[in-house]
Amino acid sequence: MTDVQPGHEEDFYVLEAELKQLLESKNYAHVTTIRDEALVSRFFNVRQWTSAQAARFSHADPDMDDLRTRLYRIALVTYVVHGVQGRDPSTDDRRLSFDRDRRAGFDRRVVDRGRPEGDRRSADRRIGPRRMRERTGDLVAAARRARENADAMFSNFKVGAALETTEGAVITGCNVENATYGLTICAERVAMFKAISDGHRAFTRIAIVADTSVPTPPCGACRQILWEFGGNLEIRLANMHRETGTYKLRDLLPVPFDARLL
Ligand code: THU
Repeated sequence: MTDVQPGHEEDFYVLEAELKQLLESKNYAHVTTIRDEALVSRFFNVRQWTSAQAARFSHADPDMDDLRTRLYRIALVTYVVHGVQGRDPSTDDRRLSFDRDRRAGFDRRVVDRGRPEGDRRSADRRIGPRRMRERTGDLVAAARRARENADAMFSNFKVGAALETTEGAVITGCNVENATYGLTICAERVAMFKAISDGHRAFTRIAIVADTSVPTPPCGACRQILWEFGGNLEIRLANMHRETGTYKLRDLLPVPFDARLL
C-alpha cells in the first residue's frame, strides 16, 4: 500500500510505470495498481511474484533498488507480504535484515502467516476501503468509551484512544497512571501495545479523546511508538463533543528516528 505525498501523484505514476515495466520485463512479478476510492493519494500495488526466488532477486536487483529509493522519497510504503519465504542471507538488501516485528516507518512488512485465523478471509476484509472508512466513523466514539476506563488518579486527566487496523479492527486504550508517575503509560501506547500483542501489524489511523476544548495531541514518546508500528497514521483528535483536529503523524514527527537508521 502506497501513500503518496500530496503533490507527488504525477511522480508516483511515472515511477510505478517504470517499476511495472522492470518487474514484468525481468519476469519477477505481474503488477497491478489500484487507486483507493476514498483517498486520492493512496494506492494498492499488487505484486504477484512469479516465484519466491524471483521476489528475492528483485529485492537484490540494483535497478529495482534505485526505483524503490526514488519511491520512498515521495511515498510511505506499507508492505503486506503473504506466504513470504525465509530471508536469503546471500542478498545484501539491508531492509530485508529487519526482523519481521521490527519495523521502519517507511518500509514495514506484515506477515499473515501464523495468525490464529490463518489464510481465511474474514467478512471485514472483503469490504472495500471506502466502506471500511465509513464504518469506522465510530473510531472517536470507541476512544470516548475507552476513556471511561482511564486510571488517572494523579492527574485526573483521562485520555482514550482507538486504533484502527487495515483490516478494520478497532483496538482501544486508556491512560494508566502509577504512583511513581514515571511509569504512567498513555492511552495511545496502551492501544498500540494491545494491538501488537493481539497480532495486528498494520494500521490506518488512531482517534484520541480528552476532555479539553483545545486538541490533545499525542506526547513525544507516543509519536515515536505510533510511528514505529503504525507509520504515517492519520491522527484524529476529539473531545467529548466534537473532533478538534486531524493530522498525519509525519507532520507531528517530521524527522523521525526509526529502524532504517540502525
Ligand atoms: N496522556 C495520554 O494518555 N495521552 C496523551 O496524548 C497525553 C497525555 C496521559 C498521560 C497521563 O496519564 C495524563 O494524560 C497526564 O499527562
